[in-house]
Amino acid sequence: MQPKVLIAYVTRSGSTEDVAEAVGTTMEQADVLVDLKPMAMVEAIADGTPVVLGAALYVGHFPREFHGFMNRFRRELENARPWIFVLGPTDKDPKHFTQAEEQARKELAKYPWLHAADVRVVGGKFDPHHLKLTFPFNLVMKFPGNPMRKMPVSDTRDWEWIRRWAQSIAEHVKKGPDANRGEFAEYTLYKNSMLGK
Ligand SMILES: Cc1cc2nc3c(=O)[nH]c(=O)nc-3n(C[C@H](O)[C@H](O)[C@H](O)COP(=O)(O)O)c2cc1C
Repeated sequence: MQPKVLIAYVTRSGSTEDVAEAVGTTMEQADVLVDLKPMAMVEAIADGTPVVLGAALYVGHFPREFHGFMNRFRRELENARPWIFVLGPTDKDPKHFTQAEEQARKELAKYPWLHAADVRVVGGKFDPHHLKLTFPFNLVMKFPGNPMRKMPVSDTRDWEWIRRWAQSIAEHVKKGPDANRGEFAEYTLYKNSMLGK
């Protein structure tokens, strides 16, 4: 029987969760079963489980739940070759996408034993009125003089690309554990079609 794909994510304000859900729905539509969960809620990963991970960058770092997850499940993840999506830039400056890719690369380099099948920065969302942040970001955002409070809502997530990506993962999963994942270039930045629009 085909194993369920674990889609584990960590979110603060919900935009990473939205992407995780879109990935999950697309995979289900491709007849792949998924188990969609915040990283902190994952209790075990059965051997042979295909894994997709999602996290957002905050001041160059992934949230602590991401690191907790890596440390808790090192043995399982070492052999899993996970697909990883990263939330980040909330404006359309391509430089910020390159920077986010660099930030993600540094964060992932903390786990030299991790061999991702693919890592993609998929854009991000900023809405100053619906932020849910942890300390110290929540405090910083409350300062009346913080210019971020006046920033407009923006969303650079490229849904069409995200769905296509999820579909190609589903095809790989359906081929079985021995399928060659080599056609996914590691750490390659895709061209977000939202840029320049
Ligand atoms: C305080 C703060 C710091 C951020 N720092 C970065 C950053 O260093 N690099 C980046 O690419 N995006 C950064 N972002 C953008 C977030 O990654 C983006 O808003 C993402 O969609 C948030 O995901 P979430 O809604 O799942 O928490 C930052 C956002 C906030 C609010």
